[in-house]
Amino acid sequence: MDREPVNRSDQSSRTGDAGRSDSTNRSSPEFNRRDFLRGSGAAMAATAMAVAATEQQAAAQQQAAKVVSAAPHPVKLNVNGVDLTLTVEPRVLLIDALRNDLNLTGCKDVCDRTNCGACTVLIDGKPVYACSRLVMDVEGQKIVTSESLLSPTKTDDVVTNFCKHDGMQCGFCTPGFVMAVRGYCNQNPKATVDDCRKGLGGNICRCGTYAGVLQAAFDTAQTATPIAKGGA
Ligand code: FES
Ligand code: FES
Repeated sequence: MDREPVNRSDQSSRTGDAGRSDSTNRSSPEFNRRDFLRGSGAAMAATAMAVAATEQQAAAQQQAAKVVSAAPHPVKLNVNGVDLTLTVEPRVLLIDALRNDLNLTGCKDVCDRTNCGACTVLIDGKPVYACSRLVMDVEGQKIVTSESLLSPTKTDDVVTNFCKHDGMQCGFCTPGFVMAVRGYCNQNPKATVDDCRKGLGGNICRCGTYAGVLQAAFDTAQTATPIAKGGA
C-alpha cells in the first residue's frame, strides 16, 4: 500500500508541541538534544539514588534482624535422634557444645582450625567439622556423633571394620575417621578403595594408620545402606 509522505512540521503540531513552553518545545530553536539528555540524566540519577537509598535501608533492616545479642540463647538441636534445647552464647562452636554441654566427647578438638577432621560429625548425613560450625547455625539439623554407633544391642559395621583392620593407634583421629567413613559410605555404597581414599581426604592421622582405615572404609562401603546425597 502507498503511504502519504509525512510532513514533519505538520506532525509536530499534531503531537501538541505547539502548546509547550519555549524551554521544552522541540520545535523551539532553544531546545536541543544536549538539553534533553542533560534533563533525562538528572532525572535518572535522582531515581537511581532513591532506589539505592531504599535498598540500603532494606539491607540495614535485614542486617539488624540478623544481629543477636551476645547473651545465651536457647537453641533447639537434634543430637543422635534426641531433641533437646541448649542455652548457649551465639559464639559457641558445635564441638564445644557437644563436648562441654552434652558430654559427647567422641569428637576431638585437635587442630581447632578445620584442618584435621578429628572433630567430624554428621550433619544431615554429611561429614562436617564440628569446629567449623556455630551451634546456632545447626539449629533444626540432625547431628550424629560417634557415640551413636555403639548401642547395647547393635554395633555399627564401621566400628567392627576398624577393629578388624586395626585402623587406629593413638586414637585421637579415630572418631573423626569413623564418622567420615560412615557418612561417605552412606552416600557412596560400593565405593572402591580409591574412592574411599578421596572421600576421606579431609581427615588426617598423625600415626599413619591409613592402610587399616582405608580397608575398613572399603569393607563398610560394601554393606552400606545408600541414602540420598546432600545435606549441610
Ligand atoms: S579439630 Fe576440627 S578439623 Fe581439626
Ligand atoms: S591414630 Fe593417632 S592420629 Fe590417628
